[in-house]
Amino acid sequence: MDVREAVRARHSVRKYKDTPIPDGLVDELNTLIRSCNEESGLHLQLILDDPECFNTLLNHYGWFSNVRHYIAVAGPKALPDLEERGGYYGQKLVIAAQQAGLNTCWVAGTYKKGKCKAELREGEELVCVIAIGYGENEGKKHKSKALSRLCSVPEDEMPGWFRNGVKAAMMAPTAMNQQKFHISLEDGEAVITAGKGPMTLIDLGIVKYNFEVISGHRCR
Ligand SMILES: Cc1cc2nc3c(=O)[nH]c(=O)nc-3n(C[C@H](O)[C@H](O)[C@H](O)COP(=O)(O)O)c2cc1C
Repeated sequence: MDVREAVRARHSVRKYKDTPIPDGLVDELNTLIRSCNEESGLHLQLILDDPECFNTLLNHYGWFSNVRHYIAVAGPKALPDLEERGGYYGQKLVIAAQQAGLNTCWVAGTYKKGKCKAELREGEELVCVIAIGYGENEGKKHKSKALSRLCSVPEDEMPGWFRNGVKAAMMAPTAMNQQKFHISLEDGEAVITAGKGPMTLIDLGIVKYNFEVISGHRCR
């Protein structure tokens, strides 16, 4: 699956099969995680076979089921943009996982933070986790706000690369599907800003990754 298809096909999946992730794919994910950590200073980690982290009362009612594997999005508290950076690099892993035939779901609330097996070094904190595995389904397309509420540039005035980026941003996962971000075009450069509220900085990083990987242009 190419990256365009992966961005389009990715939806949150909350129910997983027992199928293990093959060793070769685990190695590929770990290689990508290592390079993301080197580039970003984050401490992203793939945790396999740990059902306890998603063993919550809510999940006994079937919200999530059979989540055995997850990526811990963690890093130094001292990073001023820890949440945004976690969102950006986490989404890079999410899209790569989708390309490899896996499913994912970003999770900041409905898991047991205290049970998470992530290794935290001194001065590090856990931002959130990403459930990963072979889904029982492929999830479904989220409802999106209208383009005019997310971007100040009228669609017929958008350069092609910018329009592709905006469409990819609209497909990005955001906490509670809140889509509290805004995209503008300043001096030929895309500028994406976050609205106020919980998790909007994680969302910002996710949205920026989707925009950049599809438009081929860096944004600010
Ligand atoms: C930062 C973040 C945190 C999230 N936390 C949770 C969560 O705690 N529980 C949950 O069921 N879904 C969670 N989600 C998934 C969102 O509800 C989902 O991404 C959104 O509804 C859009 O749907 P989609 O991912 O299928 O496009 C989270 C998503 C993001 C980006």
